[in-house]
Amino acid sequence: MFVCICNAITDRAIREHAEQGVATLDELRLRTGCSDCCGQCADEAEAILRAAHAGSAAPTQPASTIPVLRPQLA
Ligand code: FES
Repeated sequence: MFVCICNAITDRAIREHAEQGVATLDELRLRTGCSDCCGQCADEAEAILRAAHAGSAAPTQPASTIPVLRPQLA
């Protein structure tokens, strides 16, 4: 599932970066751009990182909490 809609970053990608040694949201942001736009994904991305390092499955996010992005009219 997409965690960061702004940058099209999935939970799988976050776990792969965790396996490669990414331990913090700041590191993930530098590598992927995750949470560098609206920031709505920050808590979920950080939880997935923590879960990956703890060796457990990532928590699931209810669909109702996934940010909905709407085009801005000029
Ligand atoms: S959803 Fe990740 S920065 Fe907007």
